[in-house]
Amino acid sequence: MSKRTARLTRAFGLVSAIALLGTLPAGVALSANSPATPAQTLHPEKWPAAQTPRLIDPAIEKKIDALMAQMSLEEKVGQTIQGDISTIKPEDLRKYPLGSILAGGNSGPGGDDRASAQAWLDLADEFYRVSMEKKPGRVQIPVIFGVDAVHGHGNIGSATIFPHNIGLGATRDRDLLRRTGEVTAREMAATGIDWTFAPALSVVRDDRWGRSYEGFSEDPEIVAAYAGAVVEGIQGVIGSKDWMKPGRTVATAKHFLADGGTDGGRDQGDAKITEEELIRLHNAGYPPAIDAGVLTIMTSFSSWQGIKHHGNKQLMTDVLKGRMGFNGFIVGDWNAHDQVPGCTKFNCPTSLIAGLDMYMASDSWELLYKNTLAQVKDGTIPMARLDDAVRRILRVKFHAGLFDKPAPKDRKDVPAISTLGSAENRAVGREAVRKSLVLLKNQNNILPLSPKAKVLVAGDGADNIGKQAGGWTISWQGTGNRNDEFPGATSILDGIKEAVGAAGGAVTYDKAGVFKDKPDVAIVVFGEEPYAEFQGDVETLEYQPGDKSDLALLKKLKAQGIPTVAVFLSGRPMWVNPEINASDAFVAAWLPGSEGNGVADVLFKGADGKVKYDFNGKLSFSWPKTAVQTPLNRGDANYDPLFAYGYGLTYKDKGDLAALSENSGVPPGSGSSTGVFFRRGGAPAPWSLAIADQVGDLRVTTTTGTSPGKVVDLKSVDVAAQEDAKQLTWNGTGRGSFIISGRAVDLSRQSNGDVTLSLRYRVDQAPTGKAMLSMVCGPDCRADLDLTKILTDAKPGSFQTTKISLKCFAAAGARMATIEAPVVISTEGRLGLTVTDLKLDADPGNAVCPAK
Ligand code: BGC
Ligand code: BGC
Repeated sequence: MSKRTARLTRAFGLVSAIALLGTLPAGVALSANSPATPAQTLHPEKWPAAQTPRLIDPAIEKKIDALMAQMSLEEKVGQTIQGDISTIKPEDLRKYPLGSILAGGNSGPGGDDRASAQAWLDLADEFYRVSMEKKPGRVQIPVIFGVDAVHGHGNIGSATIFPHNIGLGATRDRDLLRRTGEVTAREMAATGIDWTFAPALSVVRDDRWGRSYEGFSEDPEIVAAYAGAVVEGIQGVIGSKDWMKPGRTVATAKHFLADGGTDGGRDQGDAKITEEELIRLHNAGYPPAIDAGVLTIMTSFSSWQGIKHHGNKQLMTDVLKGRMGFNGFIVGDWNAHDQVPGCTKFNCPTSLIAGLDMYMASDSWELLYKNTLAQVKDGTIPMARLDDAVRRILRVKFHAGLFDKPAPKDRKDVPAISTLGSAENRAVGREAVRKSLVLLKNQNNILPLSPKAKVLVAGDGADNIGKQAGGWTISWQGTGNRNDEFPGATSILDGIKEAVGAAGGAVTYDKAGVFKDKPDVAIVVFGEEPYAEFQGDVETLEYQPGDKSDLALLKKLKAQGIPTVAVFLSGRPMWVNPEINASDAFVAAWLPGSEGNGVADVLFKGADGKVKYDFNGKLSFSWPKTAVQTPLNRGDANYDPLFAYGYGLTYKDKGDLAALSENSGVPPGSGSSTGVFFRRGGAPAPWSLAIADQVGDLRVTTTTGTSPGKVVDLKSVDVAAQEDAKQLTWNGTGRGSFIISGRAVDLSRQSNGDVTLSLRYRVDQAPTGKAMLSMVCGPDCRADLDLTKILTDAKPGSFQTTKISLKCFAAAGARMATIEAPVVISTEGRLGLTVTDLKLDADPGNAVCPAK
């Protein structure tokens, strides 16, 4: 427990007792249905026509005919539904003949995200065997198991974890991309998993998007050039001997379409663009992927001109399957059909009718199956459409060889589990890291470094494999991963030690940059904390708004006269002008994954004094001049980035940079995320979330948690999108608190104005005791306001917003210049609250000021 949280705990926790778990009754999750929008019309004839028809093999089609002739309606409907392993067990397949299962980002065998490779193989094996049981009147169709192996088989800590796509985009090396696909497929096959939801072919137009790092580039050129190579790496070359041979897996091109083109870079948002831009920018990767034989395509959560893709018949049926000749199957995204007008996650004929072939019905599969079956029976869903969906799914299963392969554990011709993270595979990862690094500044050509030097290594990213791997690593958000959960991987520090140790130099490591013996050079590794999907959406591109602790570290070293090399870990280009000014060399290292030693390969010369590897990476995303310069993309009118698309120094270049402007461009009091304490299910940097009681505190980085003394229980729930809210239950057995805290921020200017703290929440259970809302401003500094009446008066079961003037907190004793915890809710009684948004709001309308 940190000193600060220990202090907060002392301030708020009192008694401990038994936990009480609060759950929402099934079906109350609200959906974000927007009112029906007038249909936009697409012009299929303007889209690229199919090259060679793919995936139609007369021998396979005959087998499908034979199989379908024996299938019952139940079995057909079952094929179109996929459940998540957090809610479906192998034995469920006996009753519900589902065609597929997945393990989403937070799902692991036995509910354990950190399960071993063997546990994954065991689980895949069990599901497969149940699906293939012989029973009278039942056909045997192997279930297909999908996971997000989006940068290697990242659910498993011992796997080779590659740089996220943004880094691969900088390598400009198609063959390397193919090999990363190959390694990923082999490592998946070793664990009996036949399908990856990758590659993302997103063309990322606004870097505020939380999934920017999942895209190769902002430009269609790179996405189009890579798409086929990655698909071939995963599936093998269509028509050749190695096509879908053991050791290959099914790939998914995603998310169709324009997931990277939404307004403001909002995840799951709306692309308000023309059909011409849809085709020229966002569709660029799909024709080459289809031509390479990609077997599945995932349709996007997002919309085009207000129409959710999951309900867009023209796009899925007329364009993708018709004009573009896609003959594999379209899988949906995580309960995303729920967002189609008129649908719920349990009931959505519209999507299937529109052309979706398989619903990703993570936790909704059972009811969805029953409803879909009824809708086929009553004619709502045409039989021909169902048959087409089933035919496509079986086609993929035949191509994947699933009917011929034995159960996962009996597969002799796939790599053994022990090959996960093998030296051979890791070598590909390390090469990818080396080639992805982009050198932005090299003052006085301080790089490459001599391995004989005295090197100080600092920064919280230096020895932090979880941080260098980012989201979609072990868990969905990639948070909370420890180095020892990545056996065989190397941190960036490990690589530096290896390079310097071998040559007779010396390495000192101190996170905070403290040293006894003055070093010749310092390497500071820092950057964004891991995130995934909408939890990574930001308001501006400013790095560490309101905090700047890494800048302080760089400046401290500079003030001591130490030449400094910055290694920046991030999922997108960010506004780091002050950090660049404070460094002699600046390297954009993206999210390199498990092979941290690839960084030192490039930074250091060999022991013989010669350069081993020069910088190779070139920006595949434009780097902004200010924190608000977004969207910013090659080809824009008045294109004026700090570093243009294609930029990247080598050791042959002169790398000097004049001092950069330190004006972020963020209008005071707006934009920066410091004023947002909780949104879309999480606390954005610099804030973090904890629950506490008298026994201790728990920093919450995952979906559920209970305070150490079991007084407060927290779980992620769905309100408008998956896991965009936290449901808190106080069980009344002692004082418990919900705490948002971070490094101290100065809110004095905001409290002099009319700014309010705005809370959006639903009361699930009214308080049975006094409930307080507090701000903490230091060891003996806090303001407590009485929230009891507001919560008691709230209409139970519906969301409401309460705004409290910051002046109230100041009047109640808060020192607004040093707010460490802007929101603390605590009570000794029972209380149930679901919160969706906690933030500063400049609009004082309806602000209240509860008593102390
Ligand atoms: C994501 C997909 C992912 C799926 C399964 C969704 O929320 O958008 O990219 O493949 O979940 O984890
Ligand atoms: C992710 C899943 C994750 C889930 C949690 C989705 O958006 O893609 O993989 O497990 O949310 O609810």
